[in-house]
Amino acid sequence: MTEHAVQSLDTRSRPLRDLRISVTDRCNFRCTYCMPKEVFNSDYQFTSRDQLLSFEEISRVARIFADLGVRKIRLTGGEPLLRKNLAGLIERLAAIDTIEDVSLTTNGVLLTQERAVELKDAGLKRITISLDTLDEATFRAISDVDVGPGPVLQAIEHAQAAGLAPIKINMVVKKGCNEDSILPMARLFHGSGKIVRFIEYMDVGHTNHWNLGDVYTATQILDRLREEFDLEPAVPNYTGEVAKRWRYRDGGGELGIIASVTQPFCQDCTRARLSAEGKLYTCLFATQGRDLRHLLREGAGDKYISEVVRMVWAKRDDRYSETRASETSILPKIEMSYIGG
Ligand code: GTP
Ligand code: 5AD
Ligand code: SF4
Ligand code: SF4
Repeated sequence: MTEHAVQSLDTRSRPLRDLRISVTDRCNFRCTYCMPKEVFNSDYQFTSRDQLLSFEEISRVARIFADLGVRKIRLTGGEPLLRKNLAGLIERLAAIDTIEDVSLTTNGVLLTQERAVELKDAGLKRITISLDTLDEATFRAISDVDVGPGPVLQAIEHAQAAGLAPIKINMVVKKGCNEDSILPMARLFHGSGKIVRFIEYMDVGHTNHWNLGDVYTATQILDRLREEFDLEPAVPNYTGEVAKRWRYRDGGGELGIIASVTQPFCQDCTRARLSAEGKLYTCLFATQGRDLRHLLREGAGDKYISEVVRMVWAKRDDRYSETRASETSILPKIEMSYIGG
């Protein structure tokens, strides 16, 4: 750990290690649990072009965070592949000396073979692709666009052919919606080297009208998987890993379960989030962010911005998932497409 990293501890002694950067709040999907169409329609005020951080601004912020101890960067959105020349940004981020890992979360539809190779060449190591079901009708019902799972499966192949590894597949499980897709997903990717992560449906934002009854719990997910597969727990890859790892005893690889609702992992949370318009959030469920774009555009020096970030982190006390209760779920919250997944 560098001298700076030691200084960047929050009030619960959690270091600042990960930066999740949302590059756009727009998406070409309208997943009902994330960007329901009745809200995210033509009247919705997305961040305008001039409000978005430029790639130069994002890289500058990333360098400042790297100096404060960040080692991992994930690009998210919205749908990050909607940003033109994303490879250019990846190249800048991968070039930062102390950044060990640059990854990307995408729904895959815009990931052509050409683009996958371009991203890999720019320095992207691995990729996470969202896929909630293999069933055509369920896929259309969830994503609420005229696309089936086919293009997403193709994107996974493109990512593999480009040498991005490991490939992770994120599946949000919502009760009454896609729990019957758990086993088909596990079957398809068993033995493929790709890691499916089954994610509890969370109360991010408000527009999805989340309620606890819609959560298909980690225990239920595991029970469902064990109807067919023999699984054993595997040790985490790193402290604070969000997914609990499970290994197929038959040598078919591993899967992950992300239990942010029933088994929160705030105590080791080392993640900061930068929104597409340059606000810094210290929790996925934060209600307020610190505007860094203003500092970037008003001529503040790196040292000053670094001090602001360090102070925001030093004051951090977030542990929303651990304190979640019926009262907290009605607090004002920011949409996931805005703050970054
Ligand atoms: P790896 O570096 O591959 O371990 O990535 P990751 O699992 O940390 O990141 P990813 O974006 O794939 O996270 C998967 C899902 O976990 C997200 O889509 C969220 O549903 C959930 N998640 C990730 N980070 C957080 C967090 O900080 N808090 C909560 N409550 N949920 C999170
Ligand atoms: N609960 C859990 N995960 C969510 N995501 C978006 N909305 C939710 C939610 N309500 C995550 C999914 C998706 C990524 C882009 O964001 O993992 O793959
Ligand atoms: Fe888009 Fe991902 Fe949200 Fe679906 S979950 S609307 S693909 S950002
Ligand atoms: Fe971190 Fe907030 Fe998620 Fe807890 S709820 S793990 S503090 S982002």
